[in-house]
Amino acid sequence: MNHIIINKDFRNSILEFIKSKKYSQIIVLVDENTNKHCCERLAFKSFLPKHELIEIKSGEEEKNLSTCIQIWQKMTDMELDRKALLINLGGGVIGDMGGFCASTYKRGIDFIQIPTTLLSMVDASVGGKLGIDFSFDNNTFKNHIGVFRVPDAVLVSTEFLKTLPNSELRSGFAEVIKHCLIADADKWKSLVVSLQSLNVSDGTLSIGIDFEDIVSHSIQIKDKITTEDPTEKGLRKTLNFGHTLGHAVESFYLNTSEKLLHGEAIAVGIICESYLSLKRNLISEEDLKQISEYILSVYGKVIIQNHDLDAIIELTKQDKKNEYSEVQFALIGPIGTCGYGITVEEKEMKEALEYYIKTV
Ligand code: GLY
Repeated sequence: MNHIIINKDFRNSILEFIKSKKYSQIIVLVDENTNKHCCERLAFKSFLPKHELIEIKSGEEEKNLSTCIQIWQKMTDMELDRKALLINLGGGVIGDMGGFCASTYKRGIDFIQIPTTLLSMVDASVGGKLGIDFSFDNNTFKNHIGVFRVPDAVLVSTEFLKTLPNSELRSGFAEVIKHCLIADADKWKSLVVSLQSLNVSDGTLSIGIDFEDIVSHSIQIKDKITTEDPTEKGLRKTLNFGHTLGHAVESFYLNTSEKLLHGEAIAVGIICESYLSLKRNLISEEDLKQISEYILSVYGKVIIQNHDLDAIIELTKQDKKNEYSEVQFALIGPIGTCGYGITVEEKEMKEALEYYIKTV
């Protein structure tokens, strides 16, 4: 069961949580960005009781075993015992890796997640997936080593969103769209209606969005699904809608000069996988048109070349949901519901990517 507190006044949430326990030491894990923009700007240090900071470098490329070793070494130098608390203040990398280090240090100490990005608020911080990327022989496998362990608390405050550039907000927003499409048709309709009031023409997002509302709505959906199926035996797989082709597109562009943010790639994945839903008669032509138009107005178009499609499809073979060498998808249909464990052939994936390329 996820213990989530959504409160704009994050200072109170932290103090109340700490007061309810008796910790021997408090450590805050940050990267240089969250240290500067969240700790300093939001005067984190001045209200939090006595604590130490561990700062690591920011970025997905730091989410590896060497950084974990640095964290475990610092925890050991600080003589943390099992009654210590680790506060992970940051985005998905800090939360996933900090949670992993806390869960394994002396077989586990308490940790709380304070997500500072929209993406980590609505996705990574809820549901207890913790871990790091693993590289060898020039390959990097994302989230390859890890555990499931639900944090002792997740403290969510939209105040942190003020520290983010628009591109990061847009990236996190793709998971919000996904949650509506897989679990709440009415909320999807309201997103479509509110699009008219958004200023998306210049690729910005901030105007007209009630972040308090969409963050708590998304967290409720993710919480319900991950409480029902914490270790992804079934229902939790629906959270992967948009992610099979989306991850493949993200990985493909990681190796080029045109890197995409996670949500920008998932937006491509949502269009392609909605096309697959149409092909299986799970949604209508009208639904697909609406989803495609909405996503393209918010995210614009990623230029994918026809000659790159085979390489992108090849990358879907690395997906963690695959079983018996078959690539398995989660597909929506009707909107507001989602199935999982649906095998899709390479030919169909190619057709879906071609649909994306052709859609204006
Ligand atoms: N991000 C998908 C999940 O937590 O299962």
